[in-house]
Amino acid sequence: MNLCGIELAHPIINASGTFDAIAARRAFGDALLARFPFAAFVSKTVTVEPRQGNPPPRLWELPAGMINSIGLPNKGLEGYLAYDLPELAQLPVPLIVNVMGFTREQVAKLVTAFGERDEVAGLELNVSCPNVETGLIMGADPAETAALVDAVRPLTTKPLIVKLTPNCTSPADVAAAAEAHGADAVSLVNTLRGMAFHPRRAGQPWLGGGTGGVSGPAVRAVALAQVAEVRARVGIPIVGMGGVQSGRHAYDLLQAGADVVAVGTESFRDPLAGARIAVELTEIPANSGISGADSRGCREVIAHKA
Ligand code: SIN
Repeated sequence: MNLCGIELAHPIINASGTFDAIAARRAFGDALLARFPFAAFVSKTVTVEPRQGNPPPRLWELPAGMINSIGLPNKGLEGYLAYDLPELAQLPVPLIVNVMGFTREQVAKLVTAFGERDEVAGLELNVSCPNVETGLIMGADPAETAALVDAVRPLTTKPLIVKLTPNCTSPADVAAAAEAHGADAVSLVNTLRGMAFHPRRAGQPWLGGGTGGVSGPAVRAVALAQVAEVRARVGIPIVGMGGVQSGRHAYDLLQAGADVVAVGTESFRDPLAGARIAVELTEIPANSGISGADSRGCREVIAHKA
């Protein structure tokens, strides 16, 4: 199959930042390359300058998922090009680099730099991280998203995937703006903003960043609804994600209108989840009893409501 020009062996990829392929290679050696769990690898977000990330604690476990307040730690553009890119280029699947800038100029710099690299199959624009001060501004507003895509579209011929935030009035409006201004695909949902209090210090947030992003099964129903709403508005491919733990969950997102499904939080529990889910997915259609007509009917209801 094909995601806006990127050849994929199956429809399951990883969600940015949820699978450290370099650490996994160190732990599992070349066995990781032989049994790589995803059809493409999406990198953790790269920013222009190196970042330490948010102060700890950075994680809080929920009954159905977790809250993270990681804060985009990374080596920065130069460090990534020097150290991470050569290692990630050895993976047996296409590499999609996720980038984030605090200004349009920064995003432009990242897109230009990665656009020139043969090792990079595509770019995902993270306009939706809830864990940095300005992370939500571009992706929460259709006009800001349009201006960003306008600015960076001419800088590369590589596929541009815009990662949408669920923390806004209308992700479908933002998706439509991204499509109208040249995005090749959209991905959703990033995490939903959430918080947890310290169990022993009343009123004090647990997470070092104060708030964080909720992921895992807790957000699955939200992802399903938002993917369906976005599908009713755009024709470009959708990478659907949010709480996928099984082939059935992936199938549901495909029925809602996704073309490709990303697995995130589940990979922390089961590093081979991507491969397992890809296999489970192949076992579903014949037995599911869900026909294409049912699926179209579902999309028509949503389109009518939009
Ligand atoms: C983080 O590093 O804070 C998570 C990345 C994201 O939510 O985009």
